[in-house]
Amino acid sequence: MSQLIDGKALAAKLRGQIREQAQEYRQRYGEEIGLAVVLVGNDPASEVYVRNKIKACEEVGIRSYSYRLPAETRQEQLEELIDTLVEDRRVHGILVQLPLPKHLDERAALSRIPAAKDVDGFCAENVGNLAMGRETLVACTPHGVMKMLEEYGVDPKGKRAVVLGRSNIVGKPMAMLLLNADATVTVCHSKTQGLQEICAQADILVVAIGRAKFVTADMVKEGAVVIDVGMDRDENGKLCGDVDFASVQGKASLITPVPGGVGPMTITMLLYNTVVAARRSK
Ligand code: GUN
Repeated sequence: MSQLIDGKALAAKLRGQIREQAQEYRQRYGEEIGLAVVLVGNDPASEVYVRNKIKACEEVGIRSYSYRLPAETRQEQLEELIDTLVEDRRVHGILVQLPLPKHLDERAALSRIPAAKDVDGFCAENVGNLAMGRETLVACTPHGVMKMLEEYGVDPKGKRAVVLGRSNIVGKPMAMLLLNADATVTVCHSKTQGLQEICAQADILVVAIGRAKFVTADMVKEGAVVIDVGMDRDENGKLCGDVDFASVQGKASLITPVPGGVGPMTITMLLYNTVVAARRSK
């Protein structure tokens, strides 16, 4: 049987530490740590994410500034708001929830956020720092995965790590983090040939492709650590991950459940990055 990696419990523990850090910051500097959250339009999934982010801020004593813009917002209006937040001294981190409505230029909008306030770790400067192994604001989901590995005593050094998925938000930064931690890293994607054999060699397998129950037992090495970043729906509409949990569970040594695995860690690392950004501003 595999041991479960309890993301919910680890998130709660880290949020306790973040709450203390936010309090220390208030006492030391006489001001609150602030996070601006921008949501454009009414994508239902984004609404849930944003609500959870704001709630998480409240719980740890980070002040959130929430901005809801209508779906028909023009590029200049969005950029004007971002520019205001960049200048606002109460705001230490700026998060623009993605995806933006199709008519908006995501890249142009995000490029207005300076690296110091980029708590998502998406901008070229922060990604570049990560690629060069420098300390920086790191994308929340892969950062959370590294914290989980650390908590469960999994040292990537010398291990074979396979990352399934090459998105800018998860796959690529995940691969860089594992490489920086001295793993031997392979990144697989939709055009990869011999996927099953490659995955089956992984000591650490991180899956972030958004396809329900895609990874089955034959793709997993006995005793591997399996991290499931997916948030999908199965044939009955039930929440599930990219890994076929029932089939892989007996084979992996450690595995994240969905829900209750990586999910709670993502928002936690956003809070963590916001504290880092605030401290660095001093
Ligand atoms: N949409 C899905 N995941 C994310 C994320 O981590 N950050 C932002 N800003 N938008 C997202």
